[in-house]
Amino acid sequence: MAAFTLAHLSDPHLPPLPALRLREFAGKRALGYLNWTRNRHRFHTRGVLDALVSDMQAQRPDHIAITGDLVNLALEAEFAPAQAWLESVGASDRVTVVPGNHDAYVRATRHRSAEAWSSYSGGDDAPGVAFPFLRRRGALALIGVSSAVPTPPLMATGWLGRSQLEALERILAPLATEQVFRVLLIHHPLRSRSRAKRLTDASDLLALVKQYGVELILHGHDHVHSTMWFDGPGGAIPAIGVPSASALAHGRYPAAAYNLFSISRDGGAWQCEQTVRGIDDAQRIVQLWRVRLSPPGMNAG
Ligand SMILES: [Fe+2]
Ligand SMILES: [Fe+2]
Repeated sequence: MAAFTLAHLSDPHLPPLPALRLREFAGKRALGYLNWTRNRHRFHTRGVLDALVSDMQAQRPDHIAITGDLVNLALEAEFAPAQAWLESVGASDRVTVVPGNHDAYVRATRHRSAEAWSSYSGGDDAPGVAFPFLRRRGALALIGVSSAVPTPPLMATGWLGRSQLEALERILAPLATEQVFRVLLIHHPLRSRSRAKRLTDASDLLALVKQYGVELILHGHDHVHSTMWFDGPGGAIPAIGVPSASALAHGRYPAAAYNLFSISRDGGAWQCEQTVRGIDDAQRIVQLWRVRLSPPGMNAG
């Protein structure tokens, strides 16, 4: 079987931020706006993002996964540029998006991202805005969930909720009997040291993952390179996080990077190799490292 290449990038936090209208400058957005103008705009640049995306496109991945935080304050004026950017990344059948907390920053526009990018988030059988969704591409089953909810100021927690978890179980249960490579897409990591940034019902999601299994979990939100392992029915499951796709290195945050997963089936077992490409110290985009992610669980099924 020819290898399938899945690219993963996250958290572009698309610059620049449009000017705030006066009535939008209140509450959480006011804090976010000050944070952006004082700090973030220096570290998230369109030039970095464009260079990273064109390097990724040159690798000709079969599919691209984007795990949220496309925008910053979920201002009405941010959604059209974000949609135009998505279209420049690829057509909606080649690109799958799940939203992040910044895409649902405040209550007033919390559903705007899913509406604006619905063709990039819809399931195969149920186009439109609904989470979780299932998309099949080659030997892959891409399962997207939304952990994006508005939160109080200074909080960036995520939440799936009971109805989404129940619907997720209805997707995962039949998939467990198929020979497919299951990829779970979620903005928040399944484990976090920060109470202010965690997925609050992570334990419920981990229980489903442990019962039914997936082969790979991809997330954003932390803006760092990350590999965690979680219990699955047949062994440990890798969960991979990636830096912001528009970031210059700053503080503990590395420069922008993306991952390529080369997935194939060999002798009755799944093989998955991760290639990390990103910006090096000389501001060039290079391969940073490559690693095989083939835990015991991938030998089953
Ligand atoms: Fe983010
Ligand atoms: Fe986030």
